[in-house]
Amino acid sequence: MEFNIALLKGDGIGVEIVDSAVRVLEKTAGKFGHTFNFTAYPIGGCAINETGMPLPQETIDGCLAADCVLLGAVGGPEWDSLPSERRPEKALLGIRSALGLYTNLRPARLYSALRSASPLKDEIIGDGFDILIVRELTGGIYFGERGYREGKMGREAYDTEVYSTTEIDRIGRAAFEAAMKRSKKLCSVDKANVLETSILWRTIMHKISEEYPEVEYTDMYIDNAAMQIVRDPHQFDVIVTSNMFGDILSDESAQLTGSIGLLPSASLGASKRGLYEPVHGSAPDIAGQNKADPIAEILSGAMMLRYSLGLAKEADAIENAVDTVLNAGWRTADIMGNTDGKPLSCTEMTDKIIEVL
Ligand code: IPM
Ligand code: MG
Repeated sequence: MEFNIALLKGDGIGVEIVDSAVRVLEKTAGKFGHTFNFTAYPIGGCAINETGMPLPQETIDGCLAADCVLLGAVGGPEWDSLPSERRPEKALLGIRSALGLYTNLRPARLYSALRSASPLKDEIIGDGFDILIVRELTGGIYFGERGYREGKMGREAYDTEVYSTTEIDRIGRAAFEAAMKRSKKLCSVDKANVLETSILWRTIMHKISEEYPEVEYTDMYIDNAAMQIVRDPHQFDVIVTSNMFGDILSDESAQLTGSIGLLPSASLGASKRGLYEPVHGSAPDIAGQNKADPIAEILSGAMMLRYSLGLAKEADAIENAVDTVLNAGWRTADIMGNTDGKPLSCTEMTDKIIEVL
């Protein structure tokens, strides 16, 4: 089969890791008899340098015309002092919104070969954990009205959180569906003891849960969830939560796996056209040095094959190749831990995965 894939390499290590993922995808295409046509578009800081804007219209149009989008990372110190509307991060929010990608799937799975990289004690890790965070991605406080105004105590800044019934309903359904495909356990995380948006969130989640009697449904406050996830991660399977809470919880759970450099994510909407990106950022400190861990991006490529292109066998092949390479003890610098030996470079790790494929 033939597919058109838009590449948004972005900034920092985004460039290196997308190149790695493309090499792995080319190898996969060759092996299974597919053709992937890749077209790259600028996004983030590099787009600011080229066009003055972090998210040029050409990039949005290119993504809309593609079957799916593979993104690296955006941002870096060079653009940190720009006003918020023109920062590279704005492009991420913008492309998710322009493509209608309201469901963000962020799996946090502990690789048994990397147990020692987790900051959790052995007795808490037990036989490992595998959590899927379903983060609402195009609403909430990251998209609400914001600005500056004069208040009682002088000049003040404000951000607002708004959630409509429709927005909560569609992310809730996506989460229940995800739970049905896993161990049928869903925890909705909110702050319904304080926030109006959370009260509506909880009411709607409860309503949907009546349609999914097989799913063991619970709710939890965000502060408690942040604590429970380090106290006993096994109690969670699928977690559904708002944009901001999901942003925070997904970094927390990524760190618990000890390997944020390994975690992919998928952003999906009503159609099959999704956007796939690593959970980690652009790591400007190691950019251009061939030190980055390409695995999160390579696994994002695998998720892309599975969710947008319907190529499950091919996705399995990539995921199995990554497992094999990790189980054989190959490591990039970020996941070396206390092990001896020289870490693999980004290209060497990619070569190893391609060799196994
Ligand atoms: C993420 C990032 C982004 C977000 C930022 C860079 C806009 O933290 O993907 O988690 O908050 O969504
Ligand atoms: Mg984040």
